[in-house]
Amino acid sequence: MDFTYFLVILAAISPALATTPLVMWHGMGDSCCNPLSLGSIQKMIEKLVPGIYVHSLEIGSGIVEDTTNGFFMNVNDQIAMACQKIKADPKLAKGYNSIGFSQGGQFLRSVAQECPYPPMLNLISVGGQHQGVFGLPHCPGNSSSICDMVRKLLNLGAYVEFVQDMLVQAEYWHDPLNEDEYRNKSVYLAVTNQEKKVNMAYKVNLQKLKKFVMVMFTEDTMVQPKESEWFGFYKPGQTKELYTLQESPLYTEDKLGLKAMDQAGKLVFLKAPFDHLQFTQEWFEQNLLKYIQ
Ligand SMILES: *[C@@H]1O[C@H](CO)[C@@H](O)[C@H](O)[C@H]1NC(C)=O
Ligand SMILES: *[C@@H]1O[C@H](CO)[C@@H](O)[C@H](O)[C@H]1NC(C)=O
Repeated sequence: MDFTYFLVILAAISPALATTPLVMWHGMGDSCCNPLSLGSIQKMIEKLVPGIYVHSLEIGSGIVEDTTNGFFMNVNDQIAMACQKIKADPKLAKGYNSIGFSQGGQFLRSVAQECPYPPMLNLISVGGQHQGVFGLPHCPGNSSSICDMVRKLLNLGAYVEFVQDMLVQAEYWHDPLNEDEYRNKSVYLAVTNQEKKVNMAYKVNLQKLKKFVMVMFTEDTMVQPKESEWFGFYKPGQTKELYTLQESPLYTEDKLGLKAMDQAGKLVFLKAPFDHLQFTQEWFEQNLLKYIQ
């Protein structure tokens, strides 16, 4: 057999060459490439999907900067950087699936809304806080000095202008007792959730996704409220009763196209019976693998 012919056949039968590439975005306190956390998930995925190309976003240069940027780099700048890195990667040019962990989940949703080229196909949000947080019971990662600083800044006031400009967690801080102030001052979450000026492109672009998979950790002790992982949140003016996505103005007024996506069967709501991000490989294989194959 002619050797080129052989290669053509090999290419045709090789699943590796047909695999959709994957973009990952790490969570708070983590980095693109920490061998103990996201790096091990990348290895697991590469084993489960032979030949898959994985681009784990590094925000900044180097693991230390990537980690501290998860606390102190304006989210809008992070999203712009992510979009630029995705666009610059020729292996992603035909489209990609994406998986975001914790705050990386909502950040990748913003990428889908703001950066339609190359196209994101499936988006998997693993414990992402789509309606923000009102409480950060645990500060993860390795640096107690960073965590002390985060607490001090939040105590100054999440909506104080300079805190908004620099503290990532303030930028998705959602105070149900001060919805007005949140809407007025939040430089990221209120914008990406169309609570300020409505940006039609966000709605058009988000709906281009094939599937938007949202994982909520039912035993989550880190995200308050955990229902934010499914777009639920506290009803305004108190901190006990929650609304679901379907009950929210975001859905009923359909400012992001989520209602249309729900009706088209594009939204997938998954419960994971673990604490924040503490899923097992078995759970991953049974529930998420099909969206990245
Ligand atoms: C935590 O920080 C220490 C010292 O900075 C470092 O040696 C160690 O590898 C870090 N551990 C993790 C899990 O990042
Ligand atoms: C929010 O902005 C509106 C419109 O500019 C203003 O009327 C309102 O007083 C502001 N509320 C707060 C709490 O900043």
